[in-house]
Amino acid sequence: MNTTLERSQSSPPILIDSASDVDAPIVLEIYRRVLSEERWMVTRPDEFNVNDEWQAKIIRELNNSSNSRFLVARIGPRIVGALSVTGGKHDRLMHRAEIEIYVDSDCRGMGVGRALMESAITWSKTNPILDKLSLYVFADNTRAIALYENFGFVVEGRMIGEFQEMDGSKRDNVMMALVV
Ligand SMILES: CC(C)(COP(=O)(O)OP(=O)(O)OC[C@H]1O[C@@H](n2cnc3c(N)ncnc32)[C@H](O)[C@@H]1OP(=O)(O)O)[C@@H](O)C(=O)NCCC(=O)NCCS
Repeated sequence: MNTTLERSQSSPPILIDSASDVDAPIVLEIYRRVLSEERWMVTRPDEFNVNDEWQAKIIRELNNSSNSRFLVARIGPRIVGALSVTGGKHDRLMHRAEIEIYVDSDCRGMGVGRALMESAITWSKTNPILDKLSLYVFADNTRAIALYENFGFVVEGRMIGEFQEMDGSKRDNVMMALVV
């Protein structure tokens, strides 16, 4: 798959493509930077001990699977974000995939998340196995929730006080889904 989102004449377009092995180190660097913000993801940076080969294996497995995909967004030669569609492995869950999305902090608010999500949904709609996309998001991640709602994702539930921060404060987890 390969889609391009044109922006204004002065801005280079955002290109969405399936990731490949060679993208693994950059994807991992972006993910680590997002983790280091300590705000958006469940995993803490010191809990994330993987290497480039692990990331390459994930990319290979998803893009070789009939109900999964790993996409990257590029602006010019630079990878600026990624989105994984991880389809279920059990027979009862094959029709359902979980989405994870992240964009490098200096490239947010420029349409990269929207371009990634648009491609993922278009791909999922044409996929003969998938019927449903699901995701989890911190209840206070307003930018991400706005993005998901723009594409028609609806809230399926809210887990109250699911996450505990270092200072003891709690944050809710929201489950959202889209039928495709
Ligand atoms: C959430 C995330 C993927 C969105 O990607 P993005 O490239 O920043 O988003 P976009 O520029 O495509 O904007 C998408 C929508 O988000 C909303 N949005 C954008 N900037 C916003 C801001 N500053 N405040 C609130 N909402 C905003 C808008 O609704 C926008 O839709 P529109 O362009 O039709 O108006 C990105 O901000 C990110 O990686 N955040 C950190 C990691 C993360 O939270 N991942 C999701 C975990 S569930």
